Amino acid sequence: MHIERQKEDKSRVDSTFGMGHIFKEVPDLIPAEIQRGLNTSIIGKTIEYYREVKSTNSVAASMADDVEDGTTIITEIQTRGRGRRGRIWASPRGGIWLSIVLKPRMPAARAYRLTIAAGLAAAKTIRAYEIDAKIKWPNDIIIGNKKVCGILTETEAEQLKYAIVGIGVDANIDTRLFPEEIRDRSTSLQTELGESIDRVEFIKRLLTGFEYEYLRLYKQFPQILDEWRYLLATTGKRVQINNPSTTIYGKAVGVDREGALIIKCDDGFIERIVAGECIHASI
Ligand code: BTN
Repeated sequence: MHIERQKEDKSRVDSTFGMGHIFKEVPDLIPAEIQRGLNTSIIGKTIEYYREVKSTNSVAASMADDVEDGTTIITEIQTRGRGRRGRIWASPRGGIWLSIVLKPRMPAARAYRLTIAAGLAAAKTIRAYEIDAKIKWPNDIIIGNKKVCGILTETEAEQLKYAIVGIGVDANIDTRLFPEEIRDRSTSLQTELGESIDRVEFIKRLLTGFEYEYLRLYKQFPQILDEWRYLLATTGKRVQINNPSTTIYGKAVGVDREGALIIKCDDGFIERIVAGECIHASI
């Protein structure tokens, strides 16, 4: 079942970057095509499609109480896409911007597992295009040292009434048009492959892959974590960890069974990092 909605904001902005004539070339997604042959039983069973919203995570949160597990919100453009740490997430036409409402039976303290499952699914989906995508702790998908996908998980209530997993993939985007401050650190599937991808096919694979991980979260989290660890580019690297109160420098030596990053700090101490921005040092 899908419900097609017009954009919530009437003032059409064809491109987040004011270069609408370039992005108009990308054809709209057709939700019925995403659902045709989609073999999932939870994720994407209901898809809500918009041409333009501020943020799919916000739309998902506004309806989360009333929708079923796995309801997926997809849009062509976000005018106020949200990244982690309160950052803006540039979301022009051609990308894949979606949020999934989840209603798992787990305490909120375990919501990080959803992010790990989503990161693994996103990395595997991209790798199926013969791209050497890796995970940068905690949940960026990178190609080389450039980011191609970000994940923002937001939760509600201690007993996890619901969680919203927002996934943004720079798919058919000409990264030369990205804002200057992120241009050198970002890439897109189109840039890496030298041609655009079929976004409908990608979304189908991503939703199917995420459902696979979601269903095995309860009983097989250690296996998910092992696969995630295997794709983690951070281990062995010199890193800088930025938290609101501190900056830590050291070498990432691994992740523990909850996905926390273990750092051997330059002062010799071992730190366990559960949250923060991680920068891979170039040396
Ligand atoms: C990050 O790496 O900072 C997280 C980026 C998450 C972006 C996605 S795009 C779909 C969903 N809606 C949002 O506003 N953000 C997430």
